[in-house]
Amino acid sequence: MDYEQFKKQVYRLTHIDLNSYKERQMKRRIDVLMQKNKFHGYDEYVHALKNDKNLYEEFVGFITINVSEFYRNPEQWRILEEEILPDLLKKTNRRLNVWSAACSTGDEPYSLAMLLLDYIPKNNIRILATDLDGKVLNKAQEGIYNFKSMSNLPSKYIDQYFVKIDDKKYQIKNLIKECVRFEQHDLLEDNYPKNFDLIICRNVVIYFTDEAKTKIYQKFNDSMNSDGILFVGSTEQIVNYKELNYDSLKSFFYKKN
Ligand SMILES: C[S@@+](CC[C@H](N)C(=O)[O-])C[C@H]1O[C@@H](n2cnc3c(N)ncnc32)[C@H](O)[C@@H]1O
Repeated sequence: MDYEQFKKQVYRLTHIDLNSYKERQMKRRIDVLMQKNKFHGYDEYVHALKNDKNLYEEFVGFITINVSEFYRNPEQWRILEEEILPDLLKKTNRRLNVWSAACSTGDEPYSLAMLLLDYIPKNNIRILATDLDGKVLNKAQEGIYNFKSMSNLPSKYIDQYFVKIDDKKYQIKNLIKECVRFEQHDLLEDNYPKNFDLIICRNVVIYFTDEAKTKIYQKFNDSMNSDGILFVGSTEQIVNYKELNYDSLKSFFYKKN
């Protein structure tokens, strides 16, 4: 089996379309994973993926790259809080409908819930958080985190919204969990939900081809209310933002035109 056939098999098995992920990088990552597990070719590996649940879960976790942390790139969260939110909240009458797309283990939507609670009441906050990988969504709902992933989070939020389990582990309180609804969603395949004032999509499109990226940004545009804001990751500036019907507000923040 060659890589083209492997991609087809993976699609059949997982519904993940590797054609939309940057090929050289993805192929190299898969080779490393196969070597680590001592498989010598795609045939052998696909056979094992069909029969071994642990191996399958490792594979999905590995190709989707689901590392995350609270307040990832704190400077950008500061810009969100000080320069983007005040205007946005004025326009929406202090209610916010948010989508954290490709949310991984929930660090991102939960960070947002904590920040928003400083400004608006809980009932005015609606956060939909989605990811392709069901396993990370289960972790998000469980809400137990290693302290390492919280090191950028302002300490006032740790004191207010977490219960310490032991030296390394903290559990997020229900008050924050209740602000977020988790759902499985594939950015490459599924219909997009609508009517958002803010969409956060960070550290996932870097793995996609330019064509796939453009489609995603167009669909996000359609999913937003007028003047909606798109918040992207720190290496994900949108070069063709004008064509896609956005204004650039600040690096990493785009407004629907
Ligand atoms: C590196 S994490 C980013 C998490 C978070 N947004 C952040 O910046 O910390 C990338 C996430 O994208 C998800 N992902 C990969 N391909 C996807 C797809 N086609 N649709 C939705 N989510 C996807 C992965 O499962 C993973 O949880």
